[in-house]
Parts: sequence; structure tokens; C-alpha cells
Amino acid sequence: MDFKLTDEQLMIQTAAREFAQLQCLPGVIERDEKQIVGKDILLALSNLGFLGMMTSPTYGGAGMDTISYVLAMEEISKIDSSISVAMSVNNSLVCWGLEHFGSEHQKQKYLTHLAQGNIDGQLHIGAFLLSEPEAGSDATHQHTSAVDNGDHYVINGVKNWITNGSTASIYLVIAQTDYTKGHKGINAFIVEKDTPGITVGVKENKMGIRGSDTHAVSFADVKVPKENRIGEDGFGFNFAMKTLNGGRIGIAAQALGIASGAYELALAYSKQRKTFGKPIHEHQAIQFKLAEMATKIETARLLCYKAAWEKDNHLDYTTTAAMAKLHASDTAMWVTTEAVQIHGGYGFVKEFHVERLMRDAKITQIYEGTSEIQKMVIGRSITR
Ligand code: CAA
Repeated sequence: MDFKLTDEQLMIQTAAREFAQLQCLPGVIERDEKQIVGKDILLALSNLGFLGMMTSPTYGGAGMDTISYVLAMEEISKIDSSISVAMSVNNSLVCWGLEHFGSEHQKQKYLTHLAQGNIDGQLHIGAFLLSEPEAGSDATHQHTSAVDNGDHYVINGVKNWITNGSTASIYLVIAQTDYTKGHKGINAFIVEKDTPGITVGVKENKMGIRGSDTHAVSFADVKVPKENRIGEDGFGFNFAMKTLNGGRIGIAAQALGIASGAYELALAYSKQRKTFGKPIHEHQAIQFKLAEMATKIETARLLCYKAAWEKDNHLDYTTTAAMAKLHASDTAMWVTTEAVQIHGGYGFVKEFHVERLMRDAKITQIYEGTSEIQKMVIGRSITR
């Protein structure tokens, strides 16, 4: 067993850390407060190859491994998870899904742009449209329909909580084509956002990741060419599940980053802040908190690396990805709350960053499968 990162992985980690400090940190409080999408930051991120990290260079990607993706996600999420969630959705849910299940024509036409991210100064990013007002965790109960109409499908319905909802140029839409077949009557489609009949709702006013671009998207008689269906007829639910397994590694890494970011701030603060005549980290009450934070973060990191390693080695990573997300997101929530506590009153104000990290942590227990769904996935796997 080798826990050592390769030179290339270390280089990517350093590049991501520098990017987070130089490009994401300035203005992060204002973007959070005013719910500003960091489009310029995403464009700069694409110049590092970070919007199509794992996509093959044949299709415009950077051809990196999943461990590198985890490292980059961790570093960027230490500072700004509104940026890292856009990056994660494009990498894991959009580019990976298209590369592994799309036709050659679909890859040439769509993936090459999405993996590069920046085409002549324009941001090209994708969104993954599975959730609906009444189908979140219960994802097999799709209300959005796609009716076969000869050479095209006609899509009607509403999708909810869509990351990159207004910034995306391409949507991957999951919809029901045959209600008699249950989840085997679901398909996935590539839909260009400017297709007539698509309406993007107002941006959600969220507790955390406030800069991230979250919208409802509705479809009224939206025509999609048949060639834009991904895979065989009825493959859509399987497509969504397989894609989400990798997405969960990305969100686990995001949660890991939020936790590590808060821990690093709390550790630094505990060395500088004095009470009762000594730095607060010399008080056992604080030192025990720091010790527990470091331990939980390290276990989350090991699970993230293991899931990524399994994926890179073509093993079944479903269960480890679910474990990584479950544990890392719980760790993020706990560590950020303790980081605020260590900061005392300063932790409760925005300038010290930990309150934002605490708000950002919460969503990692909810999106790309709630903690309860991860327990279902793990439970079914270990009792099978
Ligand atoms: N990997 C691969 N296949 C899976 C799978 C997984 N993790 N989970 C289920 N499947 C397959 C099953 O094997 C089964 O396939 P077959 O019929 O071919 O055997 C099929 O999917 C149906 O599975 P179940 O019978 O287990 O269906 P269920 O309804 O009992 O449970 C579920 C399904 C696991 C709960 C699923 O609905 C689920 O994962 N829900 C959570 C959805 C989710 O994560 N949403 C996130 C939204 S996207 C998002 O947040 C993106 C963003 O913008 C940030």
C-alpha cells in the first residue's frame, strides 16, 4: 500500500492551493453575501484544465486521475465551495457521464467544449437535471416526460435545485419516456439551453454556497433530436446512478475541503488568541477539539482517496464513494461548528470565514444524495 502522492498529483495540489488563495479568496465574502456567480473565476479555472480534469485529451480534457480531482476539489473548497460545486458538477456529472456513455458524435459535438470550459473567452459548462419538486431522494419517480415523436422527443416538466442552472450551455436532462416501465422507462438527454420552451427560474436564495448558480428549470414542449438521447432506450436511470457514484466522490472531496479549511483557520487562530495568560491551543479543552478535528478529517481524506483509487483502478466504487460522502459531509458539519466555537464571537462574524464554511458544510449532507440515501446505498451493499 502506497500513501505517497505522485509528483504530478503534488503539482496539481499546489496549483489548486495557489489558485484558491489568489483567485478565490479575494471577494469571497462579497460573492457569498450578494450571491454572485464567480464566472471569471470559473473561466480562469478552465485555463488550468480543472473543468475537464478527468476527461481524455482526445475530447479536450486534461486526462488527470480521480485522486488529482479530489486534491483539487479539496483545495478550492477550503475557500469557495460555490466555485467547487460548479467544477464538480461539470467534471463528474456532465463530462464523465458524456465520455463514458455518450456516442462519438455527442462527445465530439458537446464534450470537447464542456471539458475545455473556455471557448474564445466564453464559459462552457454543463448542468445535471435529475431532481424535481417531488423527486429528490426518490429519483425513480420522475414527473418530467419525454414523448417520442419520430425523429425527436418532446420534453415537458420542471427540474429543481439545478447547479449551473443559468450559466450552463448544456443540460443533461433525465426524463420519463414510458411510465409503464418504471425506472427502466427513464432516459437521459443532452439539451442545449437555448432551445425554445426552456425557462430558467429565479436564483435560489440559499443558506450556504450562496454564489453558486442554483435555479429551477422548466420545459414546455421542448424538442430534442433523437440523436441526443444518451445510450440505449431506458438507460437513463442507470446513467444517473452511475454518474452520481462519481459525483459523490467530488462532493466528499468538497466536504473534506470545507472541513480542512475550517480546521486550518481554527488552528492558526488558537495559536494567536490568548486567554488566561496563554495561547488557547495550550488549554486542553481546545487541544482536544483540534485533535478530534484532525482525526476526523484524516479519516475522511483516506475514504476519499480510497474511493478515487478504486475508480481509477476500475473497481466497483459505489459503496466507498457513499461512505466517503457520508463521513466527509458529517465531518464538515461537525468540524466547521467546532471551528466557529474555537473562534468564539469572532467565529460568528463574516470576516473570519468560518461561519461561511459552516453554512457551506450543510449542503454536502444534502445534495448528490442525502446522508440518509448514502446510508441506504451502504446498507443495501453490506446486507446484499
Ligand atoms: N449505482 C449504480 N446503480 C444503482 C445505484 C448506484 N448507486 N443505486 C441504484 N442503482 C440501480 C439499481 O441497481 C437498479 O438497477 P436495475 O433495475 O437495473 O437492477 C436501479 O438503479 C433502481 O434501484 P433501486 O431498485 O435500488 O431503486 P430505489 O428507488 O429503491 O432506490 C435510490 C434508488 C438509490 C434511492 C436512488 O433513487 C438515489 O440514489 N436517490 C438519490 C438521488 C440523488 O442522489 N440525487 C441527487 C441530485 S443531483 C445533484 O444534487 C446535482 C447537483 O446539482 C449538485
